[in-house]
Amino acid sequence: MKSAASSATLMVRNLQTTLVQKSGQLNLVRGIDFEVMPGETLALVGESGSGKSLTALSIMRLLARNAQWNCQGEVLFQNGNQPTENLLTLTEQEMRKLRGHQVAMIFQEPMTCLNPVMTVGQQIAESVRLHLGLDHQTGNARALRALEQVEIPAASQRFHQYPHQLSGGMRQRVMIAMSMVCEPRLLIADEPTTALDVTIQAQILNLMGRLQKDTGMAMLFITHNLGVVAHHAARVAVMYAGQIVEQGTVHGVFANPQHPYTRGLLACLPGRARQLSKLTGQAVALQDIPGQAPSMTETLQACSFAPRCNACQKVCTSTLPEWRGTTNHSALCHFDFTA
Ligand SMILES: Nc1ncnc2c1ncn2[C@@H]1O[C@H](COP(=O)(O)OP(=O)(O)OP(=O)(O)O)[C@@H](O)[C@H]1O
Ligand SMILES: [Mg+2]
Repeated sequence: MKSAASSATLMVRNLQTTLVQKSGQLNLVRGIDFEVMPGETLALVGESGSGKSLTALSIMRLLARNAQWNCQGEVLFQNGNQPTENLLTLTEQEMRKLRGHQVAMIFQEPMTCLNPVMTVGQQIAESVRLHLGLDHQTGNARALRALEQVEIPAASQRFHQYPHQLSGGMRQRVMIAMSMVCEPRLLIADEPTTALDVTIQAQILNLMGRLQKDTGMAMLFITHNLGVVAHHAARVAVMYAGQIVEQGTVHGVFANPQHPYTRGLLACLPGRARQLSKLTGQAVALQDIPGQAPSMTETLQACSFAPRCNACQKVCTSTLPEWRGTTNHSALCHFDFTA
């Protein structure tokens, strides 16, 4: 895959995440490359189990501690005019300084990162004091402002409430406030609004977009909802079985999907790009494609999608495909499906 931008906030190069088990190793992320520019949203889509969350957790160095992981490649993070750092080589202490400050993540389930025995205001204020070195009073004021920015009604009262006293939508707003309060350069949002109803989802996504515009933050946005991709992302990367198989501008990929997997996912969309505007704000779930993903224990010798591909040819089952296309839109496929 070709790419130029050296001023990207995040540049992921040949990221490979392997789960090491007694019975052998599972290659769950198989050498992926992408980048996210300042102020840009890159959507990461793909069926369940394709490795989206593991990609996010690998970047954040937050892979489950109860398992043995091996992460190879580079996760290059550019923090303003600081020198670029490879997050995979930082110490845990250096990573802790970055997390929640310059690099933040919103998890699929808000309760996983909210502390149930601390008020939501205290939690945000603590993060601000820790990362920005503010005193108690200024930290509290900043935390309150963050709750107001995510449009939590009666924020000064909510400040003193515990997570369980808030609705799911409010908790999600608290998480967004917490992740954005230190104005991170990079935000990774893993299905941040899936659990919410459509109206609240739209409000929160618009709000994140506004905050993003104000701060120039880069965002990696993981979602199953193609309507959300159409409305909120500039570019999209499609993941299949631990690989990115297609990547490009949302318009390019939706109008003219190149990889048979993406073509299958998008088959449900009428007139695709022409209808792109109609997709916005609607929940458009990814379609299921019949068949099984390949075994993750073996090293790939051929196209990983070949067993499920309706355009499969002999070469697809014997040779690894190479990237074809341009910087704006490319796919990992032996064939060219340009419309
Ligand atoms: N802690 C773990 N231990 C063992 N296997 C894991 C672990 N976490 C993830 N996996 C496996 O890695 C693969 C990728 O998982 P991942 O959570 O990244 O998928 P995903 O694309 O985020 O899916 P979803 O859309 O359902 O959230 C899956 O096969 C999953 O079973
Ligand atoms: Mg996931």
